[in-house]
Amino acid sequence: MFERGTREAVTSRTTRKARRVKRMSEATPTTVTYDTADELASATADRLAAALASAQAARGTASVVLTGGRTGGAVLAALRSAALDWSSLDIYWGDERFLPAGDPERNETQARAALLDHVPVAPARVHAMAPSDGEFGDDPDAAAEAYAVLLKDVPTFDVCLLGVGEEGHTASIFPHSPAVLESARTVVAVRDCPKPPPTRVSLTLPRIRTAAAVWLMTTGAAKADAVAAALAGAAEQDIPAAGARGQRETLWILDRSAASAR
Ligand code: 6PG
Repeated sequence: MFERGTREAVTSRTTRKARRVKRMSEATPTTVTYDTADELASATADRLAAALASAQAARGTASVVLTGGRTGGAVLAALRSAALDWSSLDIYWGDERFLPAGDPERNETQARAALLDHVPVAPARVHAMAPSDGEFGDDPDAAAEAYAVLLKDVPTFDVCLLGVGEEGHTASIFPHSPAVLESARTVVAVRDCPKPPPTRVSLTLPRIRTAAAVWLMTTGAAKADAVAAALAGAAEQDIPAAGARGQRETLWILDRSAASAR
Protein backbone atom coordinates (compact mmCIF):
# COMPACT_ATOMS: atom_id res chain seq x y z
CA MET A 1 0.00 0.00 0.00
CA PHE A 2 2.73 2.36 1.07
CA GLU A 3 4.88 1.39 -1.91
CA ARG A 4 1.99 1.96 -4.29
CA GLY A 5 1.25 5.31 -2.69
CA THR A 6 4.88 6.30 -2.97
CA ARG A 7 5.03 5.31 -6.61
CA GLU A 8 1.88 7.29 -7.26
CA ALA A 9 3.34 10.28 -5.49
CA VAL A 10 6.54 10.03 -7.52
CA THR A 11 4.56 9.61 -10.73
CA SER A 12 2.42 12.59 -9.94
CA ARG A 13 5.52 14.66 -9.06
CA THR A 14 7.12 13.58 -12.35
CA THR A 15 3.96 14.47 -14.28
CA ARG A 16 3.77 17.84 -12.58
CA LYS A 17 7.43 18.47 -13.40
CA ALA A 18 6.90 17.45 -17.05
CA ARG A 19 3.92 19.79 -17.22
CA ARG A 20 5.95 22.61 -15.71
CA VAL A 21 8.75 22.05 -18.21
CA LYS A 22 6.27 22.08 -21.08
CA ARG A 23 4.53 25.19 -19.78
CA MET A 24 7.84 27.02 -19.35
CA SER A 25 8.42 26.80 -23.09
CA GLU A 26 5.13 28.59 -23.81
CA ALA A 27 5.01 32.33 -24.20
CA THR A 28 3.52 34.56 -21.53
CA PRO A 29 0.48 36.43 -22.89
CA THR A 30 0.93 39.98 -24.13
CA THR A 31 -1.80 42.28 -25.39
CA VAL A 32 -2.29 44.87 -28.09
CA THR A 33 -5.37 47.10 -28.05
CA TYR A 34 -6.98 49.06 -30.87
CA ASP A 35 -9.63 51.75 -30.63
CA THR A 36 -12.14 50.02 -32.87
CA ALA A 37 -12.92 46.62 -34.33
CA ASP A 38 -12.18 47.95 -37.83
CA GLU A 39 -8.73 49.13 -36.79
CA LEU A 40 -8.11 45.78 -35.15
CA ALA A 41 -9.07 43.88 -38.32
CA SER A 42 -6.88 45.96 -40.58
CA ALA A 43 -3.85 46.00 -38.25
CA THR A 44 -4.15 42.25 -37.57
CA ALA A 45 -4.29 41.50 -41.29
CA ASP A 46 -1.06 43.51 -41.71
CA ARG A 47 0.53 41.74 -38.75
CA LEU A 48 -0.49 38.34 -40.12
CA ALA A 49 0.78 39.10 -43.62
CA ALA A 50 4.14 40.13 -42.13
CA ALA A 51 4.39 37.01 -39.94
CA LEU A 52 3.55 34.67 -42.82
CA ALA A 53 5.89 36.47 -45.23
CA SER A 54 8.68 36.21 -42.68
CA ALA A 55 8.09 32.44 -42.32
CA GLN A 56 8.07 32.08 -46.11
CA ALA A 57 11.32 34.05 -46.37
CA ALA A 58 12.94 31.77 -43.81
CA ARG A 59 11.59 28.38 -44.92
CA GLY A 60 9.87 28.90 -48.28
CA THR A 61 6.50 28.05 -46.76
CA ALA A 62 4.11 29.17 -44.01
CA SER A 63 1.09 27.83 -42.18
CA VAL A 64 -1.89 29.47 -40.55
CA VAL A 65 -4.84 28.17 -38.55
CA LEU A 66 -8.09 30.02 -39.22
CA THR A 67 -10.99 30.72 -36.88
CA GLY A 68 -14.66 31.46 -37.35
CA GLY A 69 -16.51 34.37 -35.79
CA ARG A 70 -17.03 38.00 -36.80
CA THR A 71 -13.61 39.20 -35.68
CA GLY A 72 -11.78 36.40 -37.46
CA GLY A 73 -13.90 36.96 -40.58
CA ALA A 74 -13.12 40.68 -40.64
CA VAL A 75 -9.39 39.94 -40.37
CA LEU A 76 -9.61 37.50 -43.28
CA ALA A 77 -11.49 40.01 -45.43
CA ALA A 78 -8.82 42.62 -44.66
CA LEU A 79 -6.10 40.14 -45.65
CA ARG A 80 -7.34 39.90 -49.26
CA SER A 81 -5.14 42.75 -50.43
CA ALA A 82 -1.96 41.42 -48.79
CA ALA A 83 1.03 40.87 -51.07
CA LEU A 84 1.70 37.29 -49.96
CA ASP A 85 2.96 34.25 -51.81
CA TRP A 86 -0.45 32.62 -51.50
CA SER A 87 0.68 29.43 -53.24
CA SER A 88 3.21 28.69 -50.47
CA LEU A 89 0.73 28.80 -47.63
CA ASP A 90 -0.90 25.89 -45.79
CA ILE A 91 -4.27 26.72 -44.30
CA TYR A 92 -5.85 24.80 -41.42
CA TRP A 93 -8.83 25.38 -39.13
CA GLY A 94 -8.92 25.46 -35.35
CA ASP A 95 -12.49 24.22 -35.32
CA GLU A 96 -15.40 23.53 -37.56
CA ARG A 97 -19.14 23.36 -37.23
CA PHE A 98 -20.01 19.81 -38.28
CA LEU A 99 -22.47 20.63 -41.06
CA PRO A 100 -22.83 19.69 -44.74
CA ALA A 101 -20.28 20.97 -47.25
CA GLY A 102 -21.03 24.51 -48.34
CA ASP A 103 -23.35 25.22 -45.41
CA PRO A 104 -23.17 28.97 -44.81
CA GLU A 105 -22.55 28.33 -41.10
CA ARG A 106 -19.40 26.31 -41.71
CA ASN A 107 -16.22 28.17 -40.80
CA GLU A 108 -14.73 26.91 -44.07
CA THR A 109 -17.57 28.40 -46.13
CA GLN A 110 -17.19 31.74 -44.36
CA ALA A 111 -13.40 31.76 -44.77
CA ARG A 112 -13.74 31.01 -48.47
CA ALA A 113 -16.20 33.88 -48.91
CA ALA A 114 -14.10 36.29 -46.84
CA LEU A 115 -10.69 35.42 -48.28
CA LEU A 116 -9.91 32.13 -49.97
CA ASP A 117 -12.14 32.64 -53.03
CA HIS A 118 -10.36 35.94 -53.68
CA VAL A 119 -6.69 34.95 -53.55
CA PRO A 120 -4.61 32.35 -55.45
CA VAL A 121 -4.18 29.79 -52.67
CA ALA A 122 -3.17 26.27 -53.74
CA PRO A 123 -6.38 24.19 -53.39
CA ALA A 124 -4.42 21.17 -52.12
CA ARG A 125 -3.00 23.29 -49.31
CA VAL A 126 -6.41 24.33 -47.96
CA HIS A 127 -6.96 21.70 -45.27
CA ALA A 128 -10.59 21.97 -44.24
CA MET A 129 -12.13 19.70 -41.63
CA ALA A 130 -14.57 17.15 -43.09
CA PRO A 131 -18.23 18.15 -43.49
CA SER A 132 -21.10 16.03 -42.13
CA ASP A 133 -21.93 14.77 -45.62
CA GLY A 134 -18.34 14.01 -46.61
CA GLU A 135 -16.31 10.82 -46.76
CA PHE A 136 -16.83 10.09 -43.05
CA GLY A 137 -20.57 10.63 -43.19
CA ASP A 138 -22.30 11.99 -40.13
CA ASP A 139 -19.53 10.78 -37.79
CA PRO A 140 -17.68 13.66 -36.11
CA ASP A 141 -15.29 11.26 -34.34
CA ALA A 142 -14.12 9.89 -37.69
CA ALA A 143 -13.79 13.45 -39.03
CA ALA A 144 -11.73 14.44 -35.97
CA GLU A 145 -9.53 11.36 -36.25
CA ALA A 146 -8.90 12.04 -39.96
CA TYR A 147 -7.82 15.60 -39.16
CA ALA A 148 -5.55 14.30 -36.40
CA VAL A 149 -3.93 11.93 -38.92
CA LEU A 150 -3.45 14.83 -41.36
CA LEU A 151 -1.80 16.88 -38.60
CA LYS A 152 0.64 14.11 -37.67
CA ASP A 153 2.99 15.47 -40.36
CA VAL A 154 2.52 19.06 -39.18
CA PRO A 155 4.60 19.55 -36.03
CA THR A 156 3.75 23.23 -35.61
CA PHE A 157 1.81 26.14 -37.13
CA ASP A 158 3.35 29.54 -37.75
CA VAL A 159 0.25 31.40 -36.55
CA CYS A 160 -2.89 30.01 -34.92
CA LEU A 161 -5.75 32.50 -35.05
CA LEU A 162 -8.45 32.08 -32.42
CA GLY A 163 -11.67 33.81 -31.43
CA VAL A 164 -12.95 34.08 -27.87
CA GLY A 165 -16.53 33.56 -26.71
CA GLU A 166 -18.33 35.51 -24.00
CA GLU A 167 -17.96 32.60 -21.58
CA GLY A 168 -14.31 32.13 -22.51
CA HIS A 169 -14.49 29.39 -25.13
CA THR A 170 -11.93 29.27 -27.88
CA ALA A 171 -11.98 27.10 -31.01
CA SER A 172 -14.84 24.75 -29.98
CA ILE A 173 -13.40 24.15 -26.51
CA PHE A 174 -16.07 25.19 -24.04
CA PRO A 175 -15.75 25.64 -20.26
CA HIS A 176 -16.02 22.39 -18.28
CA SER A 177 -16.50 20.29 -21.41
CA PRO A 178 -14.73 17.01 -22.20
CA ALA A 179 -12.70 18.86 -24.85
CA VAL A 180 -11.07 21.18 -22.31
CA LEU A 181 -9.86 18.17 -20.33
CA GLU A 182 -8.41 16.39 -23.35
CA SER A 183 -4.70 15.84 -22.89
CA ALA A 184 -3.85 13.09 -25.36
CA ARG A 185 -5.69 13.69 -28.62
CA THR A 186 -4.95 16.60 -30.95
CA VAL A 187 -8.42 16.84 -32.52
CA VAL A 188 -11.75 15.88 -30.97
CA ALA A 189 -15.43 15.72 -31.82
CA VAL A 190 -17.47 18.10 -29.67
CA ARG A 191 -21.08 17.24 -28.88
CA ASP A 192 -23.83 19.05 -26.98
CA CYS A 193 -22.07 22.33 -27.60
CA PRO A 194 -23.82 25.19 -25.72
CA LYS A 195 -23.55 27.39 -28.82
CA PRO A 196 -25.25 26.14 -32.00
CA PRO A 197 -24.63 24.02 -33.93
CA PRO A 198 -24.24 21.39 -31.20
CA THR A 199 -21.78 19.15 -33.04
CA ARG A 200 -18.33 20.36 -33.98
CA VAL A 201 -14.75 19.26 -34.53
CA SER A 202 -11.98 21.09 -32.71
CA LEU A 203 -8.25 21.16 -32.15
CA THR A 204 -7.45 20.56 -28.49
CA LEU A 205 -5.48 22.90 -26.26
CA PRO A 206 -2.33 20.71 -26.36
CA ARG A 207 -2.39 20.88 -30.17
CA ILE A 208 -3.04 24.64 -30.18
CA ARG A 209 -0.03 25.01 -27.88
CA THR A 210 2.25 23.53 -30.55
CA ALA A 211 1.82 26.72 -32.64
CA ALA A 212 4.72 29.16 -32.75
CA ALA A 213 2.31 32.06 -32.34
CA VAL A 214 -1.22 32.02 -30.91
CA TRP A 215 -3.27 35.15 -31.51
CA LEU A 216 -6.55 35.50 -29.65
CA MET A 217 -8.64 38.19 -31.33
CA THR A 218 -11.75 39.60 -29.76
CA THR A 219 -13.91 42.71 -29.77
CA GLY A 220 -16.82 44.12 -27.81
CA ALA A 221 -17.76 44.70 -24.18
CA ALA A 222 -19.45 41.29 -23.93
CA LYS A 223 -16.00 39.69 -24.06
CA ALA A 224 -14.40 41.96 -21.46
CA ASP A 225 -14.93 39.71 -18.42
CA ALA A 226 -13.62 36.61 -20.19
CA VAL A 227 -10.59 38.54 -21.44
CA ALA A 228 -9.84 39.92 -17.96
CA ALA A 229 -10.21 36.48 -16.36
CA ALA A 230 -7.95 34.81 -18.92
CA LEU A 231 -5.26 37.45 -18.57
CA ALA A 232 -5.49 37.21 -14.78
CA GLY A 233 -4.56 33.53 -15.07
CA ALA A 234 -7.93 31.76 -14.90
CA ALA A 235 -7.92 27.96 -15.02
CA GLU A 236 -8.45 26.67 -18.54
CA GLN A 237 -11.38 24.52 -17.38
CA ASP A 238 -13.17 27.76 -16.46
CA ILE A 239 -11.91 29.92 -19.32
CA PRO A 240 -10.52 27.68 -22.07
CA ALA A 241 -8.99 30.66 -23.89
CA ALA A 242 -6.63 31.01 -20.92
CA GLY A 243 -5.04 27.73 -21.96
CA ALA A 244 -4.31 28.82 -25.54
CA ARG A 245 -0.65 29.78 -25.70
CA GLY A 246 2.00 29.75 -28.40
CA GLN A 247 5.56 28.49 -28.14
CA ARG A 248 7.08 31.84 -29.04
CA GLU A 249 4.16 34.28 -28.82
CA THR A 250 0.77 34.45 -27.12
CA LEU A 251 -0.89 37.65 -28.25
CA TRP A 252 -4.29 38.91 -27.20
CA ILE A 253 -5.56 41.34 -29.83
CA LEU A 254 -8.36 43.46 -28.40
CA ASP A 255 -10.46 46.48 -29.10
CA ARG A 256 -11.01 49.00 -26.32
CA SER A 257 -14.34 47.49 -25.28
CA ALA A 258 -12.95 43.96 -24.96
CA ALA A 259 -10.02 45.33 -22.94
CA SER A 260 -12.26 47.41 -20.66
CA ALA A 261 -12.40 45.06 -17.62
CA ARG A 262 -8.65 44.55 -17.29
C1 6PG B 1 -18.24 29.31 -33.56
C2 6PG B 1 -17.49 30.61 -33.63
C3 6PG B 1 -17.00 31.06 -32.29
C4 6PG B 1 -16.34 32.41 -32.41
C5 6PG B 1 -16.27 33.12 -31.10
C6 6PG B 1 -15.90 34.56 -31.32
O1 6PG B 1 -17.71 28.32 -34.02
O2 6PG B 1 -19.36 29.34 -33.04
O3 6PG B 1 -16.43 30.45 -34.51
O4 6PG B 1 -16.15 30.13 -31.67
O5 6PG B 1 -15.03 32.30 -32.92
O6 6PG B 1 -17.50 33.02 -30.45
O7 6PG B 1 -16.83 35.11 -32.17
P1 6PG B 1 -16.86 36.65 -32.55
O8 6PG B 1 -15.55 36.98 -33.17
O9 6PG B 1 -18.01 36.75 -33.49
O10 6PG B 1 -17.08 37.39 -31.28
